Amino acid sequence: MKNFLAVSDLSSEEVQDLLDLAFKLKEEYFKKGNPPYFKGKVLGMIFQKPSLRTRVSFDMAMRHCGGDALYLSPNEIGLGKREAISDIARVLSGYVQALMARVFDHAHILELAKWSEIPVINGLSDYNHPCQAMADALTIQEKFGRAKGLNVTFVGDGNNVAVSLMHICAKLGWNFTIANPEGYDLAPRAVEMAKEIINETGSQLTFLRDPHEAVQGAHVIYTDTWTSMGQEEEAARREKVFPPYQVNAQLVSEADKDVIVMHCLPAHRNQELTDDVADGPHSVIFPQAHNRLHAQKAILARLFGVR
Ligand code: CP
Ligand code: NVA
Repeated sequence: MKNFLAVSDLSSEEVQDLLDLAFKLKEEYFKKGNPPYFKGKVLGMIFQKPSLRTRVSFDMAMRHCGGDALYLSPNEIGLGKREAISDIARVLSGYVQALMARVFDHAHILELAKWSEIPVINGLSDYNHPCQAMADALTIQEKFGRAKGLNVTFVGDGNNVAVSLMHICAKLGWNFTIANPEGYDLAPRAVEMAKEIINETGSQLTFLRDPHEAVQGAHVIYTDTWTSMGQEEEAARREKVFPPYQVNAQLVSEADKDVIVMHCLPAHRNQELTDDVADGPHSVIFPQAHNRLHAQKAILARLFGVR
């Protein structure tokens, strides 16, 4: 594994191997702390957009394992504005041992990876969010084990988080259903890739408009913001379109009785997810957020070749 840019770049075995390592590192961390696996390593973290979870969990993942992390804000770097991405990648390759970047344009993460001499991790782009998907799968496997054939339903915008979730479901043999309004479909190239993956793993993909139909038999209901970072100008229009896609107690009651409710956060409470569901018995949103730490330790360990 040279970089971590997309779930679809990994085989099913590599995905499960990362999850197994994440389980082990999590257990080790809570029992006795992690040894200094990342001693002498510094992760450069480039952010073009805000972040709570990605920033803090990567920083803490490095520190727990004896390494360090450096936050590079949008103002400092000016990715592609102050300086060419190809130059930034080659300069940073001489200072730090890995790069994590959160970008607007997915092409920019690919460009960073192309020129970088050190591993590059995608910390979210307009196309996907693979680190989130690893934490999501870890959370699902903690609840349901490794059983194939689970039904995972995404309700809302066919966005970056939905793309990576679809791909990890396909890789792990889970059925993925999405209900989204017309005009807010998943990126067609992501759907094509998912169809190729399920040819091998045998899971099912279902694309619907009706959220009530989509949650029938769901073991997981997942939602995310109606307006992603970078789409702020569309917020008013989206707030008119998306209310039928709210995950609320009624919708949850139509799913499997043991359904878990997930959200990558940040949540817009009482828009896409009601307070009673977010804080209710089906919700796993905080363990899910905490699993970012453990999943990312596994990704870093594999990229550094230390475990
Ligand atoms: N889920 C997630 O990536 O959160 P942040 O935007 O806070 O990093
Ligand atoms: N879809 C959201 C995810 C935030 C973690 C966004 O891109 O803003």
